[in-house]
Amino acid sequence: MDAKLSELLNHQINEELYSAYLYLTFADYYEDRGLKGFANWYMVQVQEEVAHAKILRRYLLDNDVSVKMTAIAEPDKTFSTDLEPLEAGLAHEKHITACIDRCYAAANDVHDFRAMQMLDWFVKEQGEEETNASDMIKNMKLFGSDPKGLYDLDREYQTRVFVAPTMPM
Ligand code: FEO
Repeated sequence: MDAKLSELLNHQINEELYSAYLYLTFADYYEDRGLKGFANWYMVQVQEEVAHAKILRRYLLDNDVSVKMTAIAEPDKTFSTDLEPLEAGLAHEKHITACIDRCYAAANDVHDFRAMQMLDWFVKEQGEEETNASDMIKNMKLFGSDPKGLYDLDREYQTRVFVAPTMPM
């Protein structure tokens, strides 16, 4: 595999694991607030991010590329409103989309069609990630200032369950 592409894919494992670490801090914030549904939503998100990292790891190993696990940075955000983690989440997902786009562009540059096929899944997934993050912001702005509205939202987010991603590889 092209050296630049394999480095970017290896780095993306770190980005996905950092995402899991970041969302763990979101879940902690909501747990402290007594919003167990929001905490559940982000705990499921943690599992999704770890699954994303595992897909990339598997892909590299299956293509005879050694994987290097690098240090995961400490999430440095503190929150003072229930909206702030949601806004930080959307900003973070936009960052991840840019990372995936860089990987895709690198695969395209060297005509690595197999990598592009694998990354197609991530391109689609990032669209869903941004939509989910944006919807949560809209819901919070619409209903979050009303205690009953916030209660109902929290109940809704309590129902989210982790479904292991399947992708054509
Ligand atoms: Fe793995 Fe939230 O993107």
